[in-house]
Amino acid sequence: MATIRTQIGIIGAGPAGLTLAHLLHLQGIESVVLERHTREHVETRVRAGVLEQGTVDILCGSGVGGRLQREGLQHQGIELRFDGNGHRIDFQDLVGKSITVYAQQEVIKDLIAARLNYKAPLFFEAEAVRVEDYDAQPRIHYRHGGASHEIACDFIAGCDGFHGICRPAIPAGYMQIHERHYPFAWLGILARVPPASHELIYTYHERGFSLLSMRSPEISRLYLQCPPDEDINNWLDDRIWEELRARMATREGFVLKDGPIFQKGITPMRSFVVSPMQFGKLFLLGDAAHIVPPTGAKGLNLAVADVRVLTRGLVEFYKHGNREPLRQYTERCLRRIWKGQRFSWWMTSMLHRFPGEDSFSHNIHIAELDYVTSSRAASTTLAENYVGLPFDTLGLF
Ligand code: FAD
Ligand code: PHB
Repeated sequence: MATIRTQIGIIGAGPAGLTLAHLLHLQGIESVVLERHTREHVETRVRAGVLEQGTVDILCGSGVGGRLQREGLQHQGIELRFDGNGHRIDFQDLVGKSITVYAQQEVIKDLIAARLNYKAPLFFEAEAVRVEDYDAQPRIHYRHGGASHEIACDFIAGCDGFHGICRPAIPAGYMQIHERHYPFAWLGILARVPPASHELIYTYHERGFSLLSMRSPEISRLYLQCPPDEDINNWLDDRIWEELRARMATREGFVLKDGPIFQKGITPMRSFVVSPMQFGKLFLLGDAAHIVPPTGAKGLNLAVADVRVLTRGLVEFYKHGNREPLRQYTERCLRRIWKGQRFSWWMTSMLHRFPGEDSFSHNIHIAELDYVTSSRAASTTLAENYVGLPFDTLGLF
């Protein structure tokens, strides 16, 4: 069995693992990244699409934002649609910031290209099977090329997503889990048709929530609220377009053209937070530690925010022998995560139909949306959270 020695053993080449590896490299800290899937798999996995300004700043500030700046679509606002009317939330006017629509798999491609370019270790089809001794001399056991290998490292970064091995490796009694399941899911599609609007439209409708988003001027990304146990085979293309129109084409003059659907999937909705997010020298980042429902577009952005905190902690440790920021990792991350959770839960509750809702609940939804879109204070709250709350002063970029 071959043993590799490095400073940080990173499990997972999603946004958290790859961004962490990249920022550490820039700070002269070595790492090895293990990813159980192929490069092609992670570069084509369809997920999030909205980047907060802070996430864009980190990617651009660290030299991997060239294509993001050229191809990303900058949006100055979103529309909330209900009761047959559309209401724009103008981010620029309310909080002076914007968001960028750039697919998660494009961020992944940019980070992989950078890492391979400077020839730092990143192994695909390398599955971590066990982590051990993470209180003293951490080791990661993994399978690669049909053989078993080991990484000996100073710290392990568990960036292995919700179904990874790192969170379950922490003794159950040591962690608190905070969780909420929602009684619905999202059916998401990618279609080769120009987006019917140049900004995102979130729609509340008695038939359920829907969202219009995009990936480029030629590709639309659309979502429909559906039951949590929905079978995708029940949704032929014509039915999807018909349902999208019934929920979205309520505003006069709005036309939703259909086009070939080339990707379809169902995403369950849950809120989940584990605390603490560290155990000895094992740290959890991103989806390994927390999940948000996608209505607030926060998943990827929260993962990058954790990376920022851990990078700062590791830099302080290696460059100044200061362990304090690493000790404070959970506390620093959770302050932002809980605000992201609250916002995602609030957007989800406001915009979805819950099973068994009656006319009272319906009128409450409408009243809340009416308030949010007509009060400058309430619109500002939404805008401030959507574009991303300011970071505390960690001074990285
Ligand atoms: P991940 O992206 O999950 O990356 C974890 C990586 O670890 C994966 O590549 C995995 O293969 C690897 N891994 C796992 N176990 C091992 C192991 N044992 N050994 C080696 N490698 C391992 N957010 C939004 O904001 N909007 C959306 O529309 C949206 N849609 C989503 C749809 C789906 C189906 C999912 C799952 C998530 C979605 N999210 C969305 C959330 C967002 O994509 C995540 O928050 C983001 O990917 C988190 O990044 P991460 O790096 O923490 O985890
Ligand atoms: C997306 O484009 O995939 C997207 C946009 C906004 C969300 C969720 C997903 O809230």
